[in-house]
Order: sequence, then structure tokens, then C-alpha cells
Amino acid sequence: MPDREHKAMNAEQVLITGASSGIGHELAKCFAAEKSNLILVARNTAALEKLAAELRRDQAIEVQVLPADLARPESAQKIFDGLKGRGTAVDVLVNNAGFGLHGAFAELPLARQLEIVQVNIATLVALTGWLLPGMVEGRRGGILNVGSVAGFFPGPNMAVYYASKAFVLSFSEALRVELRGTGVTVTNLCPGPTESNFSQVARSHRTRKVHARKMAAAEVARIGYEDFRRGKTLSVPGCANKILAGVVARLLPRWMAAELSGNYNRLD
Ligand SMILES: NC(=O)c1ccc[n+]([C@@H]2O[C@H](COP(=O)([O-])OP(=O)(O)OC[C@H]3O[C@@H](n4cnc5c(N)ncnc54)[C@H](OP(=O)(O)O)[C@@H]3O)[C@@H](O)[C@H]2O)c1
Repeated sequence: MPDREHKAMNAEQVLITGASSGIGHELAKCFAAEKSNLILVARNTAALEKLAAELRRDQAIEVQVLPADLARPESAQKIFDGLKGRGTAVDVLVNNAGFGLHGAFAELPLARQLEIVQVNIATLVALTGWLLPGMVEGRRGGILNVGSVAGFFPGPNMAVYYASKAFVLSFSEALRVELRGTGVTVTNLCPGPTESNFSQVARSHRTRKVHARKMAAAEVARIGYEDFRRGKTLSVPGCANKILAGVVARLLPRWMAAELSGNYNRLD
């Protein structure tokens, strides 16, 4: 058997949610470059298939495409059952899929806000719940949760999104301690404004955020990937984001932090 093929067969299996665009798409490329086999999840099947074909061709790895709507409560178990049926064990889970919405909570459709809770929180917890026991049993692997600098602040005019990322931060930090000594690591990647489809989905064009300097998704993914490989608990790409998360959010009283981010998210 050629050496490349042999390596691909024995490589770790990495499941990445939200791999159809932005940061998840770039994270897939980072794992592929180091010859991990991939399972790509999102709703946009065409985008996943395109990426899968590119990575199979360029990296000689195995890539499975699993189309799924993670806003559906049953999606995590379906994914787990499907993988089990094919005998695929997941070594690394990248919980990246997520979205936000700009606007006052009382004015935004409640159903869409509950979808944020489902995708950003409930499905993330469910996928972790289904896949983590296998990692602990095998005494290897890891979880890379994509949170946000938003997780360090209350977020008026994007309240549910900010709260969802605060959940991801707290959940990741707690798991990290529980998993000490198991061989399984947990990293929370907390990007600030990043070039992707996020702003379009969130309808950020109506806010002053539209003028914020954004990091490239590839750069954010590279930093998050390297920090995950180093076993870091927290990964905050970019100097300004580090100051926001590590200094501003810690020094300001919570009410002032809420005023600050409310002003940033204000609809013009
Ligand atoms: N961009 C930023 O400024 C920024 C800053 C901080 C944190 N983040 C976080 O980074 C992560 C990735 O976002 P991004 O910036 O790369 O935005 P993006 O380009 O919009 O990517 C979001 C990904 O999530 C997937 N997704 C959304 N809803 C889904 C659903 N119901 N079912 C399945 N997949 C779903 C999308 O796939 P489909 O549409 O194909 O389903 C897409 O692949 C998110 O968790 C986001 O909160 C982004």
C-alpha cells in the first residue's frame, strides 16, 4: 500500500461543524494539511462537497460529507448514530457552527433566537455528549469549541448571541478541568470580528460594526488550530481581541461592559 494511503487510513478522524464557509472552512484546511481525515457538517451540501473534493485531491485524505441542520434538536444524535453505523470513531470534535442576529431581543423573531440557542449551545453540548465518552475511553483526542470575544461581555442588541458564547466559554473551561489526566483536551477559540458570512447572516450592515477591522478567517483558523495542538484552554487571535477579552472585560464593571458593547452593536 502506498505510504500516503496508509497514513490517511490510520490518521485521526476530525468532525468539523460549519465547514461550508468562513472559519470552519479554514479550520478544515488546517487539519487536512496535517493529514487528519475529516467529517464535514453543515447545511450547504454543495459547498461541503466542493471542499471535500479539493482536500481529497490535494491532501490524499479521507473526507466524509454529512449534511445536517444543527438547528434541529435531533441532529447531534443522528450524526452520532450515522457515524457509529459506519464504524467511524471521532478523535477530534470542532464545534464551530454558529450564528448571531443583530437587533433588540423584543423585536427579533423568537423562533430565530431559539435557533441560536439550539445551534450555538444545545447542539454543541449534544455533540460533545455523544462523542466525548469515546475520546475519554480511548484516552486521546480533543474538542475545539469556537466561541467569541463576545463571550466575555453582555451584548445588548445581540443579547442571545453574546450569552450563547458566554455559555461556550464557561462550558469549555469547566470541561477542561474535568478532563485533566484523561488525555483529552478542550480549547475555546474566541475570535473577534472576522471576514466570513457571519455579518451577512447577522444583518450587521445596520450597525457601526460594519466598519470594524476584521481578521482573515484563514488567520483566525491557523491561530486556533495551533493553540488547539498546543493544548491551550483559551485562544484569542489578534492583539485588540486579547486586550478586550483579557483586560477590558476584566477591569470594567459589568454594567459598563454592557454599555460599551451595546454602543458597538447599536443600530444606526
Ligand atoms: N465572523 C466573526 O466575526 C466571528 C467572530 C467571533 C466568533 N465567530 C464564530 O465563528 C463561528 C463560525 O462563523 P463564521 O464567522 O465562519 O461565519 P459563517 O461564514 O457564517 O459560517 C458559519 C457556519 O456555521 C454553519 N451553520 C450555521 N447554522 C447552521 C445550521 N443550522 N446547521 C448547520 N450548520 C450551520 C454554516 O453552514 P450552512 O449555512 O451551510 O449550514 C457555516 O458553515 C461561529 O460559531 C461564530 O459565532 C465568528
